[in-house]
Amino acid sequence: MALLLAIESSCDDMAAAILDTATGTLLSHAFFSQIDMHKIYGGVVPEIASRAHIQHVRPIVISALEKAGVTLDAIDIFAATNRPGLAGSLLIGFSFAKGLAWALKKPFIAIDHLEGHIFSSFITAENTVSKPIPFPHIALSASGGHSGIYYVTGLGEYREIGNTRDDAAGEAFDKIAKLINLDYPGGPIIEKLSQKAGFVDFYKYPRTKHSPGEYLFSFSGLKTAVLYDLVKRGHVTLASQKPTETLTDEIRTQVASSLLVCIGDIFATMSDRLLRDFPEVQALTFVGGVACNQYLRDRLSNIAARHQKQFFTSEKKYSTDNGAMIAHVAGYTYTQALGQSKKEDRDLPHLPSFFSYDKDIFEE
Ligand code: KG4
Ligand code: ZN
Repeated sequence: MALLLAIESSCDDMAAAILDTATGTLLSHAFFSQIDMHKIYGGVVPEIASRAHIQHVRPIVISALEKAGVTLDAIDIFAATNRPGLAGSLLIGFSFAKGLAWALKKPFIAIDHLEGHIFSSFITAENTVSKPIPFPHIALSASGGHSGIYYVTGLGEYREIGNTRDDAAGEAFDKIAKLINLDYPGGPIIEKLSQKAGFVDFYKYPRTKHSPGEYLFSFSGLKTAVLYDLVKRGHVTLASQKPTETLTDEIRTQVASSLLVCIGDIFATMSDRLLRDFPEVQALTFVGGVACNQYLRDRLSNIAARHQKQFFTSEKKYSTDNGAMIAHVAGYTYTQALGQSKKEDRDLPHLPSFFSYDKDIFEE
């Protein structure tokens, strides 16, 4: 049994998880969300995020250890997210995990946050490694900081085939929510309001135009279109981008519903194109914070069914940023490297520097 401790701190969540790499069992995961600290600013303030991470990294690691019923000296491998994300936030979890590895003379593995999301559909409390995964598949990852499309051929084997030209999907929810005076993060509130409105498309915002052979989203234009539509109707002032007194709760609900249906259409059209263009894939997966949205899950699941493909999505607790997804990737990276090292007759666990990719940390 080799135990792995992973830390994720790329944005405003401090998270840690412990995985038994031999069985793939997730022994614990703990996190502290800073949402309440950033709410009044309508978005994440990097300086506040990194300072709060300094306070929470130690208690969260202790909490993960306690939940798993193990002590620090039982940990055989350390891992942390090294990119992409807010540099000040990444540095806290990364340096903490690497410092522990160094002090305890254990291997350290740096993990790409996006790879964590890509494989998060397949995390279960038990046996995260042996759960059968259909390859090849397409992963659609949408969150506050990124919206990517990946062609996935194996554990750790994937290539980005699409992206966003500008803002991420979650950013569109968050920015438009701010525009109509809804709390941060906007996504969950917009989902609730849309449900209330029955997912009706009141305002018919513009959908992304697709060019053949390109798999690109663009959500910045959508934000501008919503802004100008609200200005035209007299509900927002252009100069201040603040609501006027005519922006009632009813209109907010209608804007939310129209926005969600629009983003649903954009994702559905893209998924339909992808499954048509790559008929060999076995499945479609939907991951990242935005994948918490049940309406979007249902839309994409229907598209996959129409193409007779399987559909997977991450459990909601593993959709937003979390330590389990980093532990999961670190787990198979370690297991694969160990297999490789056996072939090469190398004793990898005693070669911590082999795993250190920290030169990449500022690559963003
Ligand atoms: O993955 P995540 O926790 O952080 C990043 O890596 O960015 O994603 C956070 C994003 C936010 O933009 C939030 O509004 C969005 O996920 N989100 C949702 C929902 N829950 C969270 N978007 C739409 N519907 C939801 N239910
Ligand atoms: Zn993320």
